[in-house]
Amino acid sequence: MRTFRRRAVLGAALGLAACQRPAQGQPLPAGALAPLKSLAPFPVGTSVMSGYLDDPVHADFIAAQASQITAEWEMKMEYIVRPDGGFRFDAPDRLAAFARARGLGLFGHTLIWYAQVPPAFERLDEDRIGFGEAFDNYITAVVGRYRGQAVGWDVVNEAVAEDGDGLRDSLWSRKLGDVGYMARAFKTARAADPDVPLFLNDYNLEQIPAKLDAFMRLVDRLLEAGAPLSGIGSQTHVAADLPPGALSRTLTRLAGFGLPIHVSEIDVSLERGKGLFGSRAELEAKQARIYGEAAQAFMALPAAQRFAFTFWGLRDKDSWLVRENAADAPAPFDDAGRPKRGAYAFASGIRG
Ligand code: XIL
Repeated sequence: MRTFRRRAVLGAALGLAACQRPAQGQPLPAGALAPLKSLAPFPVGTSVMSGYLDDPVHADFIAAQASQITAEWEMKMEYIVRPDGGFRFDAPDRLAAFARARGLGLFGHTLIWYAQVPPAFERLDEDRIGFGEAFDNYITAVVGRYRGQAVGWDVVNEAVAEDGDGLRDSLWSRKLGDVGYMARAFKTARAADPDVPLFLNDYNLEQIPAKLDAFMRLVDRLLEAGAPLSGIGSQTHVAADLPPGALSRTLTRLAGFGLPIHVSEIDVSLERGKGLFGSRAELEAKQARIYGEAAQAFMALPAAQRFAFTFWGLRDKDSWLVRENAADAPAPFDDAGRPKRGAYAFASGIRG
C-alpha cells in the first residue's frame, strides 16, 4: 500500500519526465536529464563560492547547468570590507571573471544586510553625515566595479522582522532611518549603475503570512519613497513539509506589483521538514513536489516577470544546510552531480 501511494505521488510530481525517469530503486544515470538551463525559458542561477572553481569538473557542471551565478558569500560586506575599512575584491573578481569566461550572468548578492555589519562601520563616529558617506561609498564602489556586467543586485536583504511585525532593527536603520537606509541604498546603487536591476530580497514569505504582508507594505513604501526598486527576490528556503499551494500563492501575490520576480535562493530542506514521522522516501517525494510546484508557479508568471530561478547550491554537498546538518539533502542534484527527483520534477514543472 505504501509503495503504491509513493508511486502515485512520484508519478504526479514527475509527470512528463517519466520517459527520462530511471526505474525505481535504480541509481539515477548521470546525464539522463538535459542541463536545467537548456530546459528553462528563463535564466537558471546557482550560488557559487570561488573555491569551487579550483575543481574543473565542478566548474564545468555549474557552467553547464546554470545561466547565471550568485556569489554565495564573497560579495557580502563580511568578505569585502576588511577590518581596517579597506575593500578586497579578489574572490568576487574571480567569480566575475569565471562568469565572463563562460558566458554566465553575474548576480550581485548582497549590498546591505542587517546580519552583516563590519566592525569598520561600527567604529564610525556618531556623525550622521560621515556614516552616510561611508554607506554610499561602499555601495558605489561595489556596484560600480561590476557595472556593465552584473545582471542584478540584491540591494537590501532580509529587512522585514522575523515574525512580520515591522522592520528589522540594525545599525543601518538606527543611523539612517528604517525605510530611509533602504531608499538611500537603492538610490545610491542606481547612481552607480543606471541600468542594473535592483532587488529587495527576503525569506519565509511562504511560511509566515504576516511577513509576506509586511514585505508587501515595505515594497509599497519604498516605491512611494521614490526608491528605484526594479524587482522582488523571494529566497524560497523552504522545508519539505511546506503545504502544497503555499509557494504558488506567494509568487502570485508578489507578482501583483508587476515587477520582475527572482526565486533567488531556493533549497528544500529534508531535515527541517521531517517532523516526527515520515520516511526518507516520503520526504524526498515531498521535496520533489515542491521543486515541481516552484517551477510551475514560476512558469505561470508573465514571461517578462520571470527574472531568474536560482538554486542555493546545485549539489547537496555544496549546500549551506548540509554544512549545518550533514543528514540534509536539500538540492536538486546529489553529491556526484546526478539529478535527483527534485531536478526531474523541476523539469516537468517547467513543461507544465
Ligand atoms: C548563507 C551562505 O549560504 C553561507 O555560506 C554564509 O555563511 C551565510 O549566508 N539568506 C541569504 C544568504 O540571503 O546570503 C544566506 O547565505 C542564506 C540565507
